[in-house]
Amino acid sequence: MDLGSWRIVLSLFGVISLLFSTCYCDKAPNYSFMKEATFAPQVSYYDYIIIGGGTAGCALAATLSEGAHVLLLERGGAPYGKKVVEEMSGFGANLSEDDVHNNNSTAQQFVSEDGVVSSRARVLGGGSAVNAGFYSRAGTDYVAKVGWSGSLVNESYAWIEKKVAFKPPMLQFQSAFRDGLVEAGVKPYNGFTYDHIVGTKIGGSIFDHNGKRHTAADLLEYANPNTTVVYLFATVHKIMFRTKGQYSQKPRAHGVIFRDSKGIKHKAYVKAGEMNEIILSAGALGSPQLLMLSGIGPKAHLKELGLELLVDQPMVGQGMTDNPMNAVMIPSPNPVEVSLIQAVGITEFGSYIEAASGTNFANSIIHLMPTSYKTSQPTSNQEYINKVASEKLYAGLILEKIIGPISSGHLLLKTKNPSDNPSVTFNYFKEKEDLTRCVKGMETIIKVIKSKSFSKFRYSELTIESLLTTMVNLPLNRCPRPANDTGLFTTLEQFCKQTVMTIWHYHGGCQVGRVVDKNYKVYNVSGLRVVDGSTFYASPGTNPQATVMMLGRYMGRRILQSRTAALKKKSFKD
Ligand SMILES: *[C@@H]1O[C@H](CO)[C@@H](O)[C@H](O)[C@H]1NC(C)=O
Ligand SMILES: *[C@@H]1O[C@H](CO)[C@@H](O)[C@H](O)[C@H]1NC(C)=O
Ligand SMILES: *[C@@H]1O[C@H](CO)[C@@H](O)[C@H](O)[C@H]1NC(C)=O
Ligand SMILES: *[C@@H]1O[C@H](CO)[C@@H](O)[C@H](O)[C@H]1NC(C)=O
Ligand SMILES: *[C@@H]1O[C@H](CO)[C@@H](O)[C@H](O)[C@H]1NC(C)=O
Ligand SMILES: *[C@@H]1O[C@H](CO)[C@@H](O)[C@H](O)[C@H]1NC(C)=O
Ligand SMILES: *[C@@H]1O[C@H](CO)[C@@H](O)[C@H](O)[C@H]1NC(C)=O
Ligand SMILES: *[C@@H]1O[C@H](CO)[C@@H](O)[C@H](O)[C@H]1NC(C)=O
Repeated sequence: MDLGSWRIVLSLFGVISLLFSTCYCDKAPNYSFMKEATFAPQVSYYDYIIIGGGTAGCALAATLSEGAHVLLLERGGAPYGKKVVEEMSGFGANLSEDDVHNNNSTAQQFVSEDGVVSSRARVLGGGSAVNAGFYSRAGTDYVAKVGWSGSLVNESYAWIEKKVAFKPPMLQFQSAFRDGLVEAGVKPYNGFTYDHIVGTKIGGSIFDHNGKRHTAADLLEYANPNTTVVYLFATVHKIMFRTKGQYSQKPRAHGVIFRDSKGIKHKAYVKAGEMNEIILSAGALGSPQLLMLSGIGPKAHLKELGLELLVDQPMVGQGMTDNPMNAVMIPSPNPVEVSLIQAVGITEFGSYIEAASGTNFANSIIHLMPTSYKTSQPTSNQEYINKVASEKLYAGLILEKIIGPISSGHLLLKTKNPSDNPSVTFNYFKEKEDLTRCVKGMETIIKVIKSKSFSKFRYSELTIESLLTTMVNLPLNRCPRPANDTGLFTTLEQFCKQTVMTIWHYHGGCQVGRVVDKNYKVYNVSGLRVVDGSTFYASPGTNPQATVMMLGRYMGRRILQSRTAALKKKSFKD
């Protein structure tokens, strides 16, 4: 071997040791690249600017930082050290936060025009910091229908799972529920798997073996600290566009205006270069809202609000869809563990059945209602609520979510302030098929409650009818009640409608083929994509967080691939 060959071998060795060396990366929660936005310069420049440090945004930022300089802007704070985030028993606490402008709360409540009380995350990690933690992949049929590459999808899921997915403990209550599902005919039993297959299974959880939650923010451990900047309490007000440009005739997104917690304005721009972009990952409410605030939306609506029109795009805010949640609370004579979702029934008829348990669980359901609403109930209802809430009871909650759903609605702005909630209508159960699925799901839930396996966790003297009637009388939503409301119901269809809640899986507003193309690029502008659940037509898998994180990773890989290809082409030309 001559000297030249030795050099090649040595440099190869260098490359290999770089690839396999232990990461120089930061460990959560001590990210050197994460700061409050008050520390941001007045003006700064990056290759990619991601709006929204949520379930998709964190995975996307970590991935893009492998090959470019990335800015991630999050309107909330960090999830670390917060009990409401990290502990299972904290679930729900901040979902009932009434003060929608408290930036320090991990969630911002909103009420749909239908009257269903819901929440949007406001914390690094997004929905994964406030949800029930269930981790389950999308079905292969979903992946095929959307047209994603199956192998890159699987690689991306695996990347997520290495960091944030765990096998849940499955104690007594969850085990009885699982066996009850099988007894009720939700078969076969598929054991523990992340895969979406018909039957009963145990899924993953983002709560680890010590019961500690790991959010999408932990994926930032993968980020290159030298090429990543994360600003917290950074509220983006507008995406800026250049309308005359060297690259194309279309308006080109080239920067964002954001404010820090002191209200000080900052600007961040993408550096010159055709491949550099702004990516919206602000969620199903935030992404369509910010497009409209930036002038992309239905012309008449923007005019009504006095917003300057950039592109007339009537589909922005359309296809808003929310999977209804219907539940039955079951007081238990025996102690139950504190559990969120662990086992799930995936039925053939398109209804997913899950369960949670805890001490005084009734209280936590009522906890989900805003204080103002709880205290405005008529006296008879009030007494009832107090009774259920005060009793120290053990209870389980069996709930269902329907696939899809088919019914959908729309989103409109109420104000020009990005911190205000937009108005959103979901039209729950407008389509008959959704109602049919709910009824079938309820019939299965009733079978589970009646099953031998579950008998230990219910009082035999409490009839199914009384359990259901209890639910009908709790203030679960603010939907208008019929004038002749007697607090009773005669059919399961009525039950489904009267007890409708949300499972917080709302999606749509920037759907593929309507607002963005199949590469998630916003139509009729350049340099702008949307990568989050607002692009979906249906909620993937039983619970979407796995797939929303996956999409962040998947699109990050895709974007870097085309960046590399473009650079190669350029150097070839030069
Ligand atoms: C993060 O920093 C704190 C304070 O310096 C330290 O106590 C903690 O151990 C660090 N955590 C990790 C995971 O490195
Ligand atoms: C936000 O919450 C943290 C603790 O979670 C607290 O230290 C801080 O003072 C709060 N900030 C404001 C402005 O309330
Ligand atoms: C969140 O929940 C915790 C626990 O119930 C509560 O102490 C806190 O006030 C809530 N709100 C905020 C803004 O953190
Ligand atoms: C992806 O993984 C699923 C199981 O999780 C498997 O069924 C499917 O065949 C895999 N797809 C590819 C392209 O490898
Ligand atoms: C970040 O920069 C430092 C100092 O230049 C370097 O030692 C380190 O390898 C870099 N980290 C990564 C992940 O590239
Ligand atoms: C919340 O953040 C927004 C924008 O960052 C800011 O204008 C507002 O003053 C903040 N509110 C509080 C209570 O800190
Ligand atoms: C209430 O009235 C509607 C028609 O207005 C009827 O369909 C429904 O069955 C009534 N409900 C009860 C509980 O009587
Ligand atoms: C893009 O703009 C063209 C010309 O104004 C219009 O015909 C087309 O419908 C627009 N595409 C979308 C998806 O809005």
